[in-house]
Amino acid sequence: SSAEKGGYKHFMIKEIYEEPEAIESALVGRIKLEGPFLKEIEEFNLETINKIKVVACGTSYHAALVFKYFLEKHINIDVEVDVASEFRYRNVYIDDNTAVIAISQSGETADTLESVRVVKRKGAKVIAITNVVGSTITRESDATIYMNAGPEIGVAATKTYINQLVVLYLLGMSILKKRNVWSENLEKDLNFLKNSPDIFRKMFETIDLKELISYYKNFNHFMYIGRGINYPTALEGALKLKEISYINATAYPAGELKHGPIALLDPTFPVFAIAPKDSLYEKMKSNIEESKARKARIIAITTEGNKEISSIADDVIFVPESPEDMYPLVIAPIIQIFAYFVADMKGYDPDKPRNLAKSVTVE
Ligand code: G6P
Repeated sequence: SSAEKGGYKHFMIKEIYEEPEAIESALVGRIKLEGPFLKEIEEFNLETINKIKVVACGTSYHAALVFKYFLEKHINIDVEVDVASEFRYRNVYIDDNTAVIAISQSGETADTLESVRVVKRKGAKVIAITNVVGSTITRESDATIYMNAGPEIGVAATKTYINQLVVLYLLGMSILKKRNVWSENLEKDLNFLKNSPDIFRKMFETIDLKELISYYKNFNHFMYIGRGINYPTALEGALKLKEISYINATAYPAGELKHGPIALLDPTFPVFAIAPKDSLYEKMKSNIEESKARKARIIAITTEGNKEISSIADDVIFVPESPEDMYPLVIAPIIQIFAYFVADMKGYDPDKPRNLAKSVTVE
């Protein structure tokens, strides 16, 4: 009923607008004066490990990729990320210096659970990140960090993706702090996390994509591109669009366009560029220009105040200036809102996409 949906048309949009409160719940008790604090991992000796394997499916896999880019930027630790349906069947090498993180919103995804079992048999210690209290993954792992997003009804993950990111940033920062790797930039990241609920609220007050979406909804293909820590943002943007609007959306690391996918581009194939003003922005700009030269329409997400982008992109969506590490967090709601309104305007029910289940408990 509409009451359950708090007056919103669908759970999905309700849950997107709940993101500020969801973040607040994820942060409660987890930022102390001294810095990030996750009591759940106090028992783990994350001081000495040099390899982390992260396993997940779907949207959770994209959150895992953001974690990899984040942690590897600040410390020399190998973070390997894999989709669970592959991980469980390959020979994964575990030694005393390896930790495993399994991410699953539901805590019930069959492939992720089986991956946990496989590495446990090899003697690994597993940290689970989940939203559902008492879910199977919590019982099979050595520690659980709850993402505290509250129940998510919409099949497409929205606020739980946000909270996965928040919890993974906190986990990454805790590891860095424990290993005495701390910097002014990390302090800024942490501050940004603290302020992000209000930043989201402000963004939600002003964002209006309806006109833009009523135009873009008519295309049959989209190419999402991003680089570095926002390559996963491109993957998640494309996944959201595919899941609920049934539009063929592909995501590529922007530098890979020239190795094949650029052949697809023409006026019927828009490029959705994730292009915040970060250290890879100039590279992104060249990739956007290359796409433009193939007459593709460009829709770009960039940082407020970036004026020059209007000369290469056809449409621009601005997000607030953020620390470089944090752009995946502020851009996520935009790609979610975009997919939501495309689906809604096309007359589809975003809460119940065809062929998909909220959690896939069979292989
Ligand atoms: C399903 C859902 C996705 C989700 C994935 C992983 O495919 O439709 O939204 O990302 O499962 O789910 P999990 O609960 O393990 O995060």
